Amino acid sequence: MELYEAIMGRRSIRKYTDKPIEDGILEQILDAARWAPNGGNNNAWRFVVVTSPIQKKLILNFCPGIFDVPAAIIVICAEPKQKLIKEATRLLYMADCAIAAENIVLAAYSLGIGSCMVASFADVALQDLIGIPESIKAYIIVTLGYPAEDPEPPPRLPIRDIVYKNEYGKEWTSDG
Ligand SMILES: Cc1cc2nc3c(=O)[nH]c(=O)nc-3n(C[C@H](O)[C@H](O)[C@H](O)COP(=O)(O)O)c2cc1C
Repeated sequence: MELYEAIMGRRSIRKYTDKPIEDGILEQILDAARWAPNGGNNNAWRFVVVTSPIQKKLILNFCPGIFDVPAAIIVICAEPKQKLIKEATRLLYMADCAIAAENIVLAAYSLGIGSCMVASFADVALQDLIGIPESIKAYIIVTLGYPAEDPEPPPRLPIRDIVYKNEYGKEWTSDG
């Protein structure tokens, strides 16, 4: 599948079939995550992949942003390795985790797997449940599973409303 096709065709999937995802496919998806661009190439992310039915059920108690039981839940967290200013570190690793999440959803889509990024979760309770140490922060979750829905694309603002040329507020004009 062409990358552009994946970018345009991927949708957030919130209903999944019961079919599990083979570990080989999960590993391909995680490989895409670890090849994401990341600040300073620190490789600071850590990925907790939860497939245990009991564990998934417990996690759902702390994740109002998950609406169905997925085949797998990937909790993306970051383990800072270098002493940056605290706020800068937080923002850098948040970006790293978000970019890894994007690679995950696109790779999943290209392999026929549905996904949804989830930021609506009780981080302290979730971290406690799956043993993420206090020094590490869970930034974002990605749910994965075979899709049980085929949602329409939600609207996006047109380019002319969000893109400016050379200066903020200056209308984008296309030379063709
Ligand atoms: C940072 C982030 C957090 C999100 N959190 C949630 C969430 O908690 N629950 C959910 O169902 N969808 C969540 N989404 C998915 C968005 O709602 C979805 O991407 C948006 O509606 C556009 O739909 P699309 O992904 O199908 O293009 C999140 C997406 C992002 C990027």
